[in-house]
Amino acid sequence: MAVAGVIVGEILALLTKLAQPGVSTAELDAAAEDHIRGRGALPAFKGYNGYPASICASLNNEVVHGIPSPERKLHAGDLLSLDVGARINGWNGDAAVTVPVGAVDSEGRRLLAVTQASLEAAIALVKPGAQLGTICHAIETCATAAGFSVVREWVGHGIGRQMHEEPQIPNYGEPGTGPRLAVGMVLAIEPMVNTGGFRTRVLGDNWTVVTADGSRSAHFEHIVAVTAQGARILTVAG
Ligand code: MF3
Ligand code: CO
Repeated sequence: MAVAGVIVGEILALLTKLAQPGVSTAELDAAAEDHIRGRGALPAFKGYNGYPASICASLNNEVVHGIPSPERKLHAGDLLSLDVGARINGWNGDAAVTVPVGAVDSEGRRLLAVTQASLEAAIALVKPGAQLGTICHAIETCATAAGFSVVREWVGHGIGRQMHEEPQIPNYGEPGTGPRLAVGMVLAIEPMVNTGGFRTRVLGDNWTVVTADGSRSAHFEHIVAVTAQGARILTVAG
């Protein structure tokens, strides 16, 4: 998974640079797929439950699972969530970032910073023996203290030979509850944070998740291995 994670990290860095006004989300998808295959890996999302693309590209009020399209061009001021999965030697990597397109207003910048900080707060608590609820609670606390809400209907997950494995990792929880982490587990921690209410709905394409109230949303995800020394983030470019 560390090998898959490096590839995913590289692609997110590449897409972050490519995400400029005028570029379509389909162009980003094509660049990602080229890079994944060029590194000898497979796009883990493509064909997963029938998903048609290699990345998810979710804009503004879209939370996750936005389908790339040549018709969706980026505009200055957009918040763009990019989610990438790669599989190599049978092992999966999965990570996401939300990036500003051109200049973004101050609330948008704050949403990105808080969502990223909530992921970092969770990762800082990952170590053998830690309880999952404690980690989930850290995400919720970080986001709600900033006046935002966490998505409850979509969650993080364990990962391995399957992209989605046990346990589910909500972005909310009770400290001191839940299963204890052990060395060798790999967790996909993925806060989804909304400026408005927490509720979401799925569009008629059966994929795109949007906020119910039209407010904006951000998404950051890393896969993280539990080691004796604590968290090892796997989805960083080499
Ligand atoms: N990172 C997302 C997840 O963890 C990606 C799923 S998109 C899908 O669920 F197409 F693969 F379903
Ligand atoms: Co994931």
